[in-house]
Amino acid sequence: MITMATKEDQSSATLDVNAIRHDFPILSGSTVPIYLDNAATTLKPASVISAINKYYEEYSANVHRSIYALGEKATKAYEDAREKTARFINAPDSSHIIFTSGTTEAINLVAYAWGRYNLKPGDEILITEMEHHSNIIPWQLVARDTGATLRYIPITENGSLDLSNIDELLNPKTKIVAMIHQSNVFGTLNPVAQLIAKAKDIGALTLVDAAQSVPHLPVDVAALDCDFFAFSGHKMLGPTGIGVLYARLELQEAMEPFQGGGEMIQQVTMDSSTWNDVPWKFEAGTPNIAQAIGLGAAMEYITSKDRTLLIQYEKRLTNYAIKSLQDITGMTIYGDSDPRGPVISFNVDGIHPHDLAQVLDQHNVAVRAGHHCAQPIMNRLGITATTRASFFFYNTSKEIDSLCESIEDARKFMGLK
Ligand code: ALA
Repeated sequence: MITMATKEDQSSATLDVNAIRHDFPILSGSTVPIYLDNAATTLKPASVISAINKYYEEYSANVHRSIYALGEKATKAYEDAREKTARFINAPDSSHIIFTSGTTEAINLVAYAWGRYNLKPGDEILITEMEHHSNIIPWQLVARDTGATLRYIPITENGSLDLSNIDELLNPKTKIVAMIHQSNVFGTLNPVAQLIAKAKDIGALTLVDAAQSVPHLPVDVAALDCDFFAFSGHKMLGPTGIGVLYARLELQEAMEPFQGGGEMIQQVTMDSSTWNDVPWKFEAGTPNIAQAIGLGAAMEYITSKDRTLLIQYEKRLTNYAIKSLQDITGMTIYGDSDPRGPVISFNVDGIHPHDLAQVLDQHNVAVRAGHHCAQPIMNRLGITATTRASFFFYNTSKEIDSLCESIEDARKFMGLK
């Protein structure tokens, strides 16, 4: 039983974190992890696990092709998940939702199915120095293959975008702006609405990598008015192997398929083929049925809570963690932007991040250490790695106290004064 022992937890009494923790089987086992690696993947509530199990136990059949009751039930559950996803991000309807295996596949889909057919030498692709590798490499490959130029919005020392030169970077040659909504290293929430509006002014398309933001914030793709919007299920309480690409319908219609195979066709002859309606044109082969259903359950779980309370709670937790970490000798925290999400990257003088993460693991504290798939950020900061703690609304300030005590122990273990 977790007691709300600290002042921080008492002040958030309206969010019943104890009840929330009971929804997560991994937090009720005999050894409860102090899990602070939520930016890598989140824990799963019982309702998500049970939705997946139910599919496998009760109506495990393929979708869109089975003319029998089980198959129809599976198809309905899969397509219901698409409807839930559309509602969750306020897409006009479910045809805007393409299921992928994750954010990485969603961005690759755009880079391949749009980028390869629409970019040419002289065109520019604009991304930021803050991107995860999944929003860098697909564009490097497309730039290499089409002759387009890849350009970067730089970042400042404090982990924000440096927009001082944006009018030169975003120019009539720019054909797409692809940007991370919330940094997986700094937690920075980027001004994507402002950049989307600027891109539209010059006729460039926009893609938002929302892998880190959607789990924590209500998003409204209609209000953002972006062209593409990508995120993953497993970072928002859902299963691995499922992600979402929101794409405007005219673009889906105009784009070439991404992968060929069953499901994505209308008519196939030995010489040529025609494509299925969108969004199924982009879902070749048997899709990740159980995972899509699990994602729908994760969205239901999140929307069953008061999201304002969740946001306030995570914000308080993050502020408490920053304040507590700052009291540790030799601590450097990277990024101090506001607004920010619940992600903190740091280093402790005299301890390599990998060693620190290993010592923390001995204290049952799970954090991530490394370059976080964002090597350009590390290069910009002149470091090779950081330790990263990232939170979700089931974490407590008591766990943050344990993190800080374990770091103090690691400092003692390394003989640091
Ligand atoms: N993209 C994930 C992270 O930042 C894996 O940890």
